Amino acid sequence: MTTTLGVIMNGVTGRMGHRQHLLRSVLAINAQGGVALSDGEKVLLRPVLVGRNAAKLAEIAAEHGIEDHTTDLDAALADPENLVYFDAQVTRARVKAILRAIEAGKHVYTEKPTAESVAEAVALAEAATAAGVKNGVVQDKLFLPGLLKLKRLVDGGFFGRILSVRGEFGYWVFEGDWQAAQRPSWNYRAEDGGGMTLDMFPHWQYVMENLFGPIRSVYAQTTTHIPARVDENGRAYDATADDAAYGIFELEGGIIAQINSSWSVRVNRDELVEFQVDGTEGSAVAGLRGCRIQHRSTTPKPVWNPDLPVTVSFRDGWQEVPDNAEFDNGFKIQWEMFVRHVLEDAPFPHDFAAGARGVQLAELGLRSAAEGRRLTVGAL
Ligand SMILES: NC(=O)c1ccc[n+]([C@@H]2O[C@H](COP(=O)([O-])OP(=O)(O)OC[C@H]3O[C@@H](n4cnc5c(N)ncnc54)[C@H](O)[C@@H]3O)[C@@H](O)[C@H]2O)c1
Repeated sequence: MTTTLGVIMNGVTGRMGHRQHLLRSVLAINAQGGVALSDGEKVLLRPVLVGRNAAKLAEIAAEHGIEDHTTDLDAALADPENLVYFDAQVTRARVKAILRAIEAGKHVYTEKPTAESVAEAVALAEAATAAGVKNGVVQDKLFLPGLLKLKRLVDGGFFGRILSVRGEFGYWVFEGDWQAAQRPSWNYRAEDGGGMTLDMFPHWQYVMENLFGPIRSVYAQTTTHIPARVDENGRAYDATADDAAYGIFELEGGIIAQINSSWSVRVNRDELVEFQVDGTEGSAVAGLRGCRIQHRSTTPKPVWNPDLPVTVSFRDGWQEVPDNAEFDNGFKIQWEMFVRHVLEDAPFPHDFAAGARGVQLAELGLRSAAEGRRLTVGAL
């Protein structure tokens, strides 16, 4: 049997809402015949597109044969057939809209960060719990093939005792004057909810917590390397938000993680994000898709001698971790999980409380940078 679940989608004209959530998740799920429940039943998703621009919504709806679209969020929320509210709006608009959805009794799923401050993020989690609605936050990086392979290595005991993690994330985002910027301009304005720390620390929080363990402290240095940019309409603006964040995190068990995040760095890596993990028994370098390892028994013995040219090709001494599985789109996997969570109470650990821990790390990172000191990450 097949049933249909009404899903309000707010922010589908945006980068994430359109590509990852509407096309690669919701419509892709329908194209494969729906979400399979444990009893074999299939659930199709009926998207209701919500946004501020009626013409843009109508265009997207027509392109994909979607019937429902409106600029009236309250009307969409009033329809009892729409059980789920999803939010991919700019971060700043999120809390208000989600609170309305919770008030209307909807189950809520959202892009990260769930809010701009810990106080708001915790309030959202409490409101959802008090209303008894299911709640979830996107934690897509956990489903990247490279990080799934890394998790496999951790779970298989490959590393021995993990000592350290080095993350390198970023790429050059054009200033917008002589080449158009490839990210929205609000990302570079603090007053619009932008900034590297608020954007990426929530990701690093759940990556570290799920792969290596809870985070105990943070020290961060943030900066705005490029202070002026040009927006989508060709207008110059002041970049008031941080465009780079250099963080050092202490994890349970003494693991030290260091993650550089920058939109002002040119890529000299194999992937846009890479994590090197060093353990007593072996090391790994994981990217979005790939993951390479070196075991202690195959570790070369470098000897420091600047008078001689390097004779060993260090990169050649690493072995590729095999796929051993087919990797689906992570956003889609999480949508399927959330639908099962809503309809048959399947486990979904990526809830608003988890989202609040991500916002907490961002807030502490920014405070650490402002005060120039290391801060403890306490329980929320
Ligand atoms: N999970 C991820 O990897 C990931 C990646 C990028 C962005 N995000 C998150 O997704 C959200 C959207 O980011 P994006 O890059 O798609 O942004 P975007 O600018 O491309 O899209 C923003 C959407 O919000 C809408 N919107 C609602 N109120 C608005 C307002 N007051 N001003 C401007 N736009 C408004 C826009 O119309 C648009 O549909 C953000 O919260 C961001 O943190 C997540």
